[in-house]
Amino acid sequence: MSNEISKGLISPAIATEFKMIVGEQYMLVDDENLQHYGHDQTEHLQFYPEIVLKPSNTAEIAAIMQLCNKHHLPVTPRGGGTGLSGGALPHLGGVLLSTERLNKIIEIDERNLQVTTEPGVITEVLQNAVKEKGLFYPPDPSSRGSCFIGGNIAENSGGPKAVKYGVVKDYVLNLEVVLPSGEVIWTGANVLKNSTGYNLTQLMVGSEGTLGIVTKIVLKLIPHPKFDLLMLVPFSSLENASAAVSAIFRAGFIPSALELIEIDALKIVSAMVDSSAVPVNDDIAAHLIIEVDGNNMDVLMGEMEAIAELLVQFEAGEIFFADYAQQKAELWKLRRRAAEAVKANGYTIEEDTVVPRAELPALIKGVKLLGQQYGFKAVCYGHAGDGNLHIRINHPTIKNSHGNSEMTLALTALFELVKSLGGTISGEHGIGLIQKPYMQTVFREANLQLMRNIKRAFDPNNILNAGKIVDLNNQVEKR
Ligand code: LAC
Ligand code: ZN
Repeated sequence: MSNEISKGLISPAIATEFKMIVGEQYMLVDDENLQHYGHDQTEHLQFYPEIVLKPSNTAEIAAIMQLCNKHHLPVTPRGGGTGLSGGALPHLGGVLLSTERLNKIIEIDERNLQVTTEPGVITEVLQNAVKEKGLFYPPDPSSRGSCFIGGNIAENSGGPKAVKYGVVKDYVLNLEVVLPSGEVIWTGANVLKNSTGYNLTQLMVGSEGTLGIVTKIVLKLIPHPKFDLLMLVPFSSLENASAAVSAIFRAGFIPSALELIEIDALKIVSAMVDSSAVPVNDDIAAHLIIEVDGNNMDVLMGEMEAIAELLVQFEAGEIFFADYAQQKAELWKLRRRAAEAVKANGYTIEEDTVVPRAELPALIKGVKLLGQQYGFKAVCYGHAGDGNLHIRINHPTIKNSHGNSEMTLALTALFELVKSLGGTISGEHGIGLIQKPYMQTVFREANLQLMRNIKRAFDPNNILNAGKIVDLNNQVEKR
């Protein structure tokens, strides 16, 4: 894949039409902006769109899509730019469409426990707004302070709370979508149950901006739990830490978060944020971060004690209970900033494997062996309670997996292992650009053909985020 600027798709006449749609100040063509909007958090990848458009509403997006469809121009939608699979990378040039100006929370419906929002609202802003009304929107990716709710819909994001509360798909009731043709539809209804035909709402969730551009979102909310308790549990072996995870559920508990963080990741992030909140000594291989939440403090205390007791079997070390809000915030900061910290320390390649949770020990063991075989260091952290392990890879010379044949071999071996354990490639980051070569590791050709046909049904000219998730045969010729 080339990193060249693909110029010349957009004629001056088309540019004038774009300007009339969004207004001059919201059409950007200067190098600094083309560079900024040409990368996200995926590896060290940089592409260049030809033009950046920042529409402010559905009608403007519809007009842009109509024009692009007429001229067969590639369009890449972008939210907060925090993606980790390259979904928002404009690898074909053309139009980069940013949703950042669609940033209003339209209505919090306290009667029905729902919120209607535009896609460019920052996830944490939305969470805080509904929390003020005593309501809870649980999906909370680590990047929640900067990612957009629209991007979360595109990727079907998860985060630590998913283990008890589910992922984005479990909260999406209805979506307003601009189709590649420029037509605007609502996918469903604002109801909690819906058996009315094919489920277009859920098809849009996780479709990574390849089928349409989401312009309004209706989400289900739940009452906010009153209390939570948090503990940090050290283990001297990764095997024990990961084996303890499934034992907690088998013993009848459902924590509201059950995260694993390997010691190397914790050391790096502690240094980056200058925190001494967690003691890191040489006997520790990994920690589990365990949270329970609910409305009855006595019940929660009982659960925490019982979990702590259970963990003795797994040779857990001395448990640290985060008693105060500030201690909890500090612990979560360390966990949430792990990806950013390890990336800055050379672990540039991130995988998002997911296996049935009792297979976690086998996955972690396999990852370390692959590291020896292929000459990389791997550090693991993530949503252990979901069996969703983020694997960060530090290779002495290869910094991008994308377009690298040696790393492609290593990752194919990793995903074959994941598949043999009953798992799959991505739990919450999506396929985007960089995981596309591995789709055939976990799917048969018949699956991929169905996906291509779905893409064609929505986007016959293959203009919207083309070349993401699956390739269409006509993609290269069209450009
Ligand atoms: C996390 C992001 C990388 O869990 O998914 O930190
Ligand atoms: Zn994650």
